[in-house]
Amino acid sequence: MMKHQKYENTIDQALHQIENLPWTDKNFYSQFLKQTYFFVSHSTRLLARTMSLTPTKETKRYSRFVEHMTEEHNHEVIAWADLKGIGVDPNSLEELPTTKAFYGLQYYKADISSGISLLGYILFLEAIASRLGAPFMTRLKEAHGVKGTRFLHVHTTEDPEHVEHALEQISLLSLNEQKIVWENFNDTAILYVNLLDEIAKNSQINKFNLHKAS
Ligand SMILES: [Fe+2]
Repeated sequence: MMKHQKYENTIDQALHQIENLPWTDKNFYSQFLKQTYFFVSHSTRLLARTMSLTPTKETKRYSRFVEHMTEEHNHEVIAWADLKGIGVDPNSLEELPTTKAFYGLQYYKADISSGISLLGYILFLEAIASRLGAPFMTRLKEAHGVKGTRFLHVHTTEDPEHVEHALEQISLLSLNEQKIVWENFNDTAILYVNLLDEIAKNSQINKFNLHKAS
């Protein structure tokens, strides 16, 4: 129960900060999509790493990772297509060091926890997307069009049951494993908000450079 309350508080706090970002700004949103493309490209790879580290006796857990990897396969392609949908050349945006740090840490955490840490990362990302809600999506679609908002559409509408799955999976772990997962959940919440702040800062710099160039 305690864990659940903490979970709700962390999501609420992150959500509050995320909702206040300049989502209707094209520079911000383009950077968001490209950085999303980069870290989501690693989701299936992180799952593969985690699967290779999962003890053979954990058959249920292993099967869930296999399923999840299939579900996530090619999701980065949707973010790439969204960029084209808003008329931005996807190759025009570079990967930020903060993005590399965001997913890079997950390989290390997986390696030192027999892969169990990844559940915290998955839970945060699934939960935050499922909580963005219909008014947020309406505002986003008005600003960038349906063809430019498919990635968030898919993740805000399809993921609520994934959250329940992940919470259930976590509750079945040993206390020590749960501790690792919740610590990574909290780290991921903070690092994800930092990443979006960095994207907001970076898109302001890009805007400034564009104005200077023209
Ligand atoms: Fe996904």
